[in-house]
Amino acid sequence: MNNSTRRLAQELLLIHSPQEKAAAVRQHLVPALTIDAAAVIGEVPGIPGRSERPLLVHPSQLKARAVGTREGRASLIHALTHIEANAVNLALDVIWRFDGMPERFYLDWLRVAREEALHFQLLRAHLNEIGFDYGDFPAHDGLWEMAEKTKGDLLARLALVPRTLEARGLDASPAIKNKLVSVGDRQGADILDIILRDEIGHVAIGNRWYRHLCNLKGLDPVGTYAALSEAYGAKALKGPFNLEARRAAGFDEAELAQLCA
Ligand SMILES: [Fe+2]
Ligand SMILES: [Fe+2]
Repeated sequence: MNNSTRRLAQELLLIHSPQEKAAAVRQHLVPALTIDAAAVIGEVPGIPGRSERPLLVHPSQLKARAVGTREGRASLIHALTHIEANAVNLALDVIWRFDGMPERFYLDWLRVAREEALHFQLLRAHLNEIGFDYGDFPAHDGLWEMAEKTKGDLLARLALVPRTLEARGLDASPAIKNKLVSVGDRQGADILDIILRDEIGHVAIGNRWYRHLCNLKGLDPVGTYAALSEAYGAKALKGPFNLEARRAAGFDEAELAQLCA
């Protein structure tokens, strides 16, 4: 294994098995590594490494199942597990791909990668308890598609992945938690609490570095966000919004007003 953070992140991203990848991230991707901030690391084939299952399909082909059945609850937990498997890939990708940022940037994303790996492990273990495994249901690839589109532009990546897609997770969390509570899945609800707490931190990291880059380039964060959303074809965000979590994640009132407009 590489002993510099960014080269190691690319090496870990190539691992096919999401279970092995999550375990390796938690074991090896640690703050004590050297941070090779200036290294320019080339694209290699096979990014992101992933297993053959789940089968990736168009979102319209995914069935919504009633959460009151065992299979329905498993499919909900599976969808969340898939988001976390993607989130591990997204964090690793930011670390290796974008050079020349301050050390603190890489340490922040290293923390995100480690937390996403934990979220994946918690949800997969819960899925196993219900009698299913990751890969048992189909899934869609929307998260990685946005990573692919923004691979040439860190500002766009930060605007559209952590500040848009991860922030959607903050909005979605209360309703999903209520569903799990309504069918007596206390353990699932507790996992969602851990994830929401950590995800506020991830969106905050996205906000911090998005603003940092806007400042460096003399860009207005609010107008730039609207322009990037349009340029990269991000879907318009619909409420209800978790404004409390979004405020805790560092969105300011101008940004929340833009969201609700
Ligand atoms: Fe997560
Ligand atoms: Fe996250």
